[in-house]
Amino acid sequence: MKQQLETIQKKAREALEAAAAPEELEALRVRFLGKKGELTAVLKQMGSLSPEERPAMGQLANSVRAGIEAELESRMEKLSAMALDLKLRSEALDVTMPGAEVPLGHKHPMSIVLDEMKEIFIGMGFDVVDGPEVELESYNFTRLNTPEGHPARDRQDTFYTTEDDNVLLRTQTSPMQIRVMENRKPPIRIISPGRVYRKDEVDATHSPMFHQMEGLVIDKGITMADLKGSLTQMVKLLYGEESVVRFRPHHFPFTEPSCEVDVRCFKCEGAGEVSGRTCPTCHGEGWIEILGAGMVHPTVLEGCGIDPDEYSGFAFGCGVERMTMNRFAINDLRLIFENDVRFLNQF
Ligand code: DAH
Repeated sequence: MKQQLETIQKKAREALEAAAAPEELEALRVRFLGKKGELTAVLKQMGSLSPEERPAMGQLANSVRAGIEAELESRMEKLSAMALDLKLRSEALDVTMPGAEVPLGHKHPMSIVLDEMKEIFIGMGFDVVDGPEVELESYNFTRLNTPEGHPARDRQDTFYTTEDDNVLLRTQTSPMQIRVMENRKPPIRIISPGRVYRKDEVDATHSPMFHQMEGLVIDKGITMADLKGSLTQMVKLLYGEESVVRFRPHHFPFTEPSCEVDVRCFKCEGAGEVSGRTCPTCHGEGWIEILGAGMVHPTVLEGCGIDPDEYSGFAFGCGVERMTMNRFAINDLRLIFENDVRFLNQF
């Protein structure tokens, strides 16, 4: 019996040492110490021993059981320590490694140009003001000296939102001139960028929604020289000192005299052609129109309660998309609205 116990002890030790998983240990516990286990089977034979032998064998059996139990426990601890170690190592985090880059957005090219234009005019002492896109007909047309029957009011060009044509989506930022003159006393120096709407089909140079920036200056003694000086300065700051500006007579109902302002084409430098072909940027013109401007019409001033004998002023309005296209040599307006990241990433 002694030998049997010792054999169990030896077998158990070997088996326990070889065990690699907690489930194996549990199986070994059942095999050696369980109700139908090997040790239990030996203990069942105790009855056949003589009373003198029994205490010693009992003691030996107990110490074998205790030995196996202790080893089971220490082996279990070791295995779980190993498992923890493995888990820690597999989940190890190197905090010094470079992180996964989160792509950062940036300004849209038109916002870049708009911000530059704002900077330029803020530098000249202008305020930036904001106004409604859904506008009264009277601000968009009548009070800008554009009476009923004027072709600009055509239903084909304008999105009216009421049957009586009293409310519309503004077709220009010029109604902001009226809103500002109503609310401020001269001297006035403002710019007002924003969206405008016209019934245009989308193509390379048209969109039913686009952006304009209006400017208005009212003070005593303002002349066409101030208009020319301010707008020339804007063009040079935006497009570079070397750019050339031209003021060309034009007609707008709310300014008199009126003009359009062109910059000399950046591509052909005014020649109208590049290596014997019509310049693709200015279509052979040699000049690119960038804005409309003029001296505020006395009728418009009067309508806003400003005495045209005391005050004069100039106004201008430019297309922001067009300014952007010129600034970055973009050849299709649609690119500005499509927001294709392959395009946007170039700025
Ligand atoms: N509102 C005009 C347009 O959309 C542009 C314009 C011309 C604005 C002359 C002005 C101006 O302030 O004086 O075509």
